Amino acid sequence: MKKWSFDTIAIHGGFDWEESLKYNSIVVPIIQSAVYPYESAQYAADLYSYKIEGYSYGRIDNPTVAAFEKRMAALEGGEAGLGAASGMAALFMIVHHLVEQGSEIVSSNRVYGGTFQLFSATMPKMGVKVRWVSQPDNISSWEEAITPETRLLHVESPSNPLLFVGDVPAIGELARSRGIPLVVDNTICTPALMRPLELGADIVYHSCTKYISGNSTSLSGVIVGKKDFLTHVRREGYRNMGPSLSPFNAWLCLLGLESLSLRMERHSSNAMTIARYLEKHPKIASVNYPGLESHPQHKVAKRQMKAFSSLMSFNIKGELDDARRFIDALQLCVHTTHLGTSKTIAIQPAATTHWQMGPEERKKGGIEDTMIRFSVGLEDPDDVIADLEQALEKV
Ligand SMILES: Cc1ncc(COP(=O)(O)O)c(C=O)c1O
Repeated sequence: MKKWSFDTIAIHGGFDWEESLKYNSIVVPIIQSAVYPYESAQYAADLYSYKIEGYSYGRIDNPTVAAFEKRMAALEGGEAGLGAASGMAALFMIVHHLVEQGSEIVSSNRVYGGTFQLFSATMPKMGVKVRWVSQPDNISSWEEAITPETRLLHVESPSNPLLFVGDVPAIGELARSRGIPLVVDNTICTPALMRPLELGADIVYHSCTKYISGNSTSLSGVIVGKKDFLTHVRREGYRNMGPSLSPFNAWLCLLGLESLSLRMERHSSNAMTIARYLEKHPKIASVNYPGLESHPQHKVAKRQMKAFSSLMSFNIKGELDDARRFIDALQLCVHTTHLGTSKTIAIQPAATTHWQMGPEERKKGGIEDTMIRFSVGLEDPDDVIADLEQALEKV
């Protein structure tokens, strides 16, 4: 039979007709069970000595989570998947497995705040150092950061909140030439818009809390990569630290995947409409969206992404208080820290998520006081524009 294409895998992957008949359900069942009965002493012995595959204990594996892992692996074009309690849990599992005391991580410095904290505050406690690449659009900056202790290269593309787009094929080629794995945070694209493994990455992970689950219902994460690698992670760090994905949250992610392609298309076209509107608005100083020709990595984004997703940031003319007034005036767009969901969301990073950095560090990192991070949802873009219009009138 013909190999399934992306949209078919998103609906049927990981739960085939036979399984459907076994459970007498067209929907992947939620196996809400912490443990699984073993059919015999021999079966249990074989399971625990890894002679056979099966479900042993809910912290390590679960049939609902397994369906999600298989579907994600197929969508990313990887050998296997591993569900995690959150995007951060997924990243920590990858890094923990690749490093030891004295190792180094080389990462683009344009990363989500939680990733920045994990690499710069938590990993040093384990004797692991991060070398930040401060010009991640320049491949020689990556080359210069690599030392004999480097155990992984890490890039988030596009990045949150600065929308830096990493050239995955170029970084992947460098990683391969040095025998170091490239780890890509594919949260903002999802496999519907970019497939990093095909572009030269070795390991991909997601915060499925965002577009994959899609409705702000659940914390969730996933890793996709080689089967051997993920088997080792499952049998060691994952088993010993317990960052497993709950069956119910895996089920919500499975539901989300069924409409992922459609949603990413609409997220992207809505975002493009709104970015074009903002670009022309007299009270807006700049718009940062990879879909705009003015974005510094627009060409790279065009090469490696099917569409440009829905995260953007823009600067309001004026000062911190002007941006604050704008936020307070919004009526439809939700003011919170989240992104990648059906509702449009706005936040002022300088006053919230990046406040702790202080004004100097923020300036260095390109986080202006007047910056708004904006995640465009699935509402009618005309309604979002009407809300932006009335809020900008109050600035
Ligand atoms: C790009 C990116 N990666 C990772 C994470 C962490 O995900 P989680 O909140 O699911 O742990 C986030 C969270 O906002 C994110 O935006």
